[in-house]
Amino acid sequence: MCGIVGYIGRKREELQDIILDGLRKLEYRGYDSWGIALVSNPSVAVKKYVGAISEATLRFDDGVNAHAAIGHTRWATHGGVCEANAHPHLDCTGNIAIVHNGIIENYAELRRRLERKGHEFSSDTDSEVVAHLIEENMKAGMSFGMAFREAIRELKGSYAIIAAHGGSKALLCARKDSPLVIGMADHGHFICSDPVAFLEHTKKAIFLDDHEMGVVTENGVWIIDLERDVLKKKNPIIIEWDVSRAEKQGYPHFMEKEIMEQEDTILKAVMQPEKVIEKAARMLNEAYGVFFVACGSSYYAALASSYIFSKVAKKHINVVDASEFKYYEHFITPKTLVVAISQSGETADVLDAVKTAKKKKARIMAITNVMGSTLMRMADFTILMNCGPEICVVATKSFTAQLAILETLAYATVQKAKEVRKAYEDLVPHIRDVLSPGNRNFLDGLAERMVEKHHIFCIGRGISHAMALEAALKIKEVTYIHAEGFAGGALKHGNIALIEKGTPCIVFAPEDETHDEIVSNAMEVKSRGGWIIGIGSRRHEVFDEFIKVPHTEIGNAILSILPVQYLAYRIAVLRGYDPDKPRNLAKSVTVK
Ligand code: F6R
Repeated sequence: MCGIVGYIGRKREELQDIILDGLRKLEYRGYDSWGIALVSNPSVAVKKYVGAISEATLRFDDGVNAHAAIGHTRWATHGGVCEANAHPHLDCTGNIAIVHNGIIENYAELRRRLERKGHEFSSDTDSEVVAHLIEENMKAGMSFGMAFREAIRELKGSYAIIAAHGGSKALLCARKDSPLVIGMADHGHFICSDPVAFLEHTKKAIFLDDHEMGVVTENGVWIIDLERDVLKKKNPIIIEWDVSRAEKQGYPHFMEKEIMEQEDTILKAVMQPEKVIEKAARMLNEAYGVFFVACGSSYYAALASSYIFSKVAKKHINVVDASEFKYYEHFITPKTLVVAISQSGETADVLDAVKTAKKKKARIMAITNVMGSTLMRMADFTILMNCGPEICVVATKSFTAQLAILETLAYATVQKAKEVRKAYEDLVPHIRDVLSPGNRNFLDGLAERMVEKHHIFCIGRGISHAMALEAALKIKEVTYIHAEGFAGGALKHGNIALIEKGTPCIVFAPEDETHDEIVSNAMEVKSRGGWIIGIGSRRHEVFDEFIKVPHTEIGNAILSILPVQYLAYRIAVLRGYDPDKPRNLAKSVTVK
């Protein structure tokens, strides 16, 4: 779950800044250490650092006359966090540098073989073997390109790799199960884990597929199909993202900015071309068995929508955590529709679930934010979330965009797509209202009173059960306070034992069929000393604190999660944490 970036082109004076800037944009993928290699003829110069890249300034002060550069920001998998384990890794000669995202599963056996041949390793990583494998192949007389290709063939596991050689005018890259995209600018070419790293230079991109290799020079890009050993023609696509969306635009953190963007992004998500919604509704209606598969917040969006499908469309949806999906494969037939929901479109568990479904010849619909992502390319049909790059590691605007799209689809399956669009247009002022300065001010005060708590519980019923789960996830991810979400009815079956005097309990109490029962559950908590924070449109005496959200028939769950996103954000900031980069987390979970 690291981020990699490479550049080769005419902007030679700015090489270091280009790579550094690209790494900053990719830092959400990993942020324990980082490094850059400048490639000149015939040598490679490397600098590595432990810690965050955000504020770093980097200078190769020996005036290296480089023509290309590669960089890496790390989320440790094999080997601790230290300078030696940071990428780029070099071969024994110091002329071959590689950066890698993924896990080389057979690295131990490759390393033993290479060590027997005299190679000396400088790190504990799985990645370093790649540099030495290339070196070994070149020693045997192969060109850099050939040596790279043969090295890739030996790898088992997942990888997006860029390799550079001091004597070569090309950067080489290859991928399997980790994302890799080539950006084509007027002044040169980029190779990155995510197009956000090059968006300010170009929107023209070629996404690599598994078992493809790229040969990238200042003036050209060649793609080789490694399975058939032939050159492959791939046309670039244009990424329609607004570059400024990847900047903080005056906000102290991306998390706050992305929370506040939701008055735009939710509507954008719903305003899909009519044909897209019609086709998706047809696929849902024609399927014999529908599975929604996703992870984390995307899973909770799927779970929430299953209540809407049940109520509005009388349709049963099997909602499965993507990492568990393969154990249901016995139920999958060619008539099954698998809807894979993933902001990044790169989550390994989601892709794995889709592979399982494809083997059974099921149809695949993707709901993803990233145009050209692996998920999009694997799916038969895709709905793009259109909420722009989400940089903060935790999901906010992508969660509400997913939920808005799924709610739209539920209505569309019963020919009410127009109704739902109109309802979402009417939702915008309510979103503004929930996140108004006055309401945020109130939440700031509430955050101050929650900052020292050790446990926070969240409860809801029906669709609000999913909101309770999402609320708890948001709180624990950024504040590191233990938070748990439950179905209101589940409390008394054990969890209520955890309630003590003053324990905060966030109660989702919308004006729907769950209202009275969740209020009773809140009373059960209160009578054991719990501090009740109610979210709904009507104040109730059981609430010690009340967060008012307007009542709406459509989009109400979305309104109810917004204040919790902001509350989690504020608590994190008050506790002195960076909510954009929570410890141990990475945005794109590309390992299983
Ligand atoms: C939560 C969060 C994660 C992601 C999960 C799935 O704030 O960000 O739980 O929701 O890793 O990611 P995607 O949607 O990219 O598949």
